[in-house]
Amino acid sequence: MKRVGIIGAGTMGTGIAQVAATYGYRVKLYDAKASALEHAKDSLRSILARLMEKGKITPSARLDILTNISFVTRLGDLEDSELIIEAIVEDLNVKKGIFTELDNCVSNNCIVASNTSSLSISSIASAFKRPDRCIGIHFFNPAPLMRLVEIIPAVQTSIEVISKAEKIIQSWGKTVVRAKDTPGFIVNRVARPFYGEALRIYDEGIADVPTIDYSLKKLGGFKMGPFELMDFIGNDVNYAVTESVFNAFFCDPRYKPSFTQKRLAEAGFLGRKSGKGYYNYDENAPVKEPIKDKKLNDQIFNRILVMLINEAADAVFWNIASSSDIDLAMIKGVNYPKGLLQWADEVGINWVVEEMDKLFDRYREERYRCSPILRDMLKDNKTFF
Ligand code: NAI
Repeated sequence: MKRVGIIGAGTMGTGIAQVAATYGYRVKLYDAKASALEHAKDSLRSILARLMEKGKITPSARLDILTNISFVTRLGDLEDSELIIEAIVEDLNVKKGIFTELDNCVSNNCIVASNTSSLSISSIASAFKRPDRCIGIHFFNPAPLMRLVEIIPAVQTSIEVISKAEKIIQSWGKTVVRAKDTPGFIVNRVARPFYGEALRIYDEGIADVPTIDYSLKKLGGFKMGPFELMDFIGNDVNYAVTESVFNAFFCDPRYKPSFTQKRLAEAGFLGRKSGKGYYNYDENAPVKEPIKDKKLNDQIFNRILVMLINEAADAVFWNIASSSDIDLAMIKGVNYPKGLLQWADEVGINWVVEEMDKLFDRYREERYRCSPILRDMLKDNKTFF
């Protein structure tokens, strides 16, 4: 029987447990808090009941999934796992502590993974006695629905562990992409301008929130505009990721957080979950219409698109991942309508370089530097695909 251990029975741990159990793995879900395990049990029961009512799973599949998951209160109970995925609080010291504790309770050939969104896998792995067995396996929320999983080898990870981890995750119906152990991996790095440049356009007073969202949806085919998405994710969560990526990149101005978002988070205007963010979710609140002006909408869309493309291209330049994995990650991880590098080929590398240079000339800020790879490609008349 294939066995997996999951540490942390919160949102992600519970979702990952559901995925593994659905694909026939025996799952042991461990949490330091008994109440978290109770909550996970209840939430899994109700999710599976809903899936059954909707006809998405059969009654026997529901039973199998539930039978495959056991809830344990001792870390030592995970000793027979072939793979352990840690999904506890996003705190480096706490994570390292768990990895050190695991030293004494897992077999030599167990793979030990972290689901961290922003911490260094190499640093977490250093707390484990066999760091070559450690790797980043980054699921997206909600884990049972999102197809993408980023696989992040630590500096110490063995080749065998990388390919074994990839095989297991693929066998759970997921699309895997491989990313270098750098802040934000692929998705949380490449997506930064979607939020950051939208906030910058707003902060400069170029357009209001509904107009920026409208421009991205109408002209780009994005399912949600940046502000709708930030309200959906939560301004507290989205701000924390931005700040952490910014700090982890030694304060690169490209990832500079916005005071607008910081203040909203501080004020408790978190978005949908608090009833108010960039939008007011009270059903009686007045709806503000976007300005539909072709020139303005084009200007907004083009500026955000070109910044996204530049970010994706720069990730290729720094060997964070392959071009095809970067495009796949943005389509499957955040539902972009098209891969950004495919988009670059379509709009033309010359256009991207020109637009970046126009922004740089206007602001003279490092934030708007064009990735060297784009200049090289233009010179050599190359495309990404
Ligand atoms: P959560 O707050 O919902 O759950 C964390 C769970 O870990 C809690 O049940 C808590 O009791 C438990 N826990 C904390 N410290 C522990 C310890 N020392 N030993 C055992 N259990 C402990 O958190 P969530 O959202 O599930 O996130 C977990 C991890 O997944 C974090 O590293 C986060 O960055 C990452 N992640 C989160 C995503 C999200 O959208 N929520 C998406 C992708 C990754």
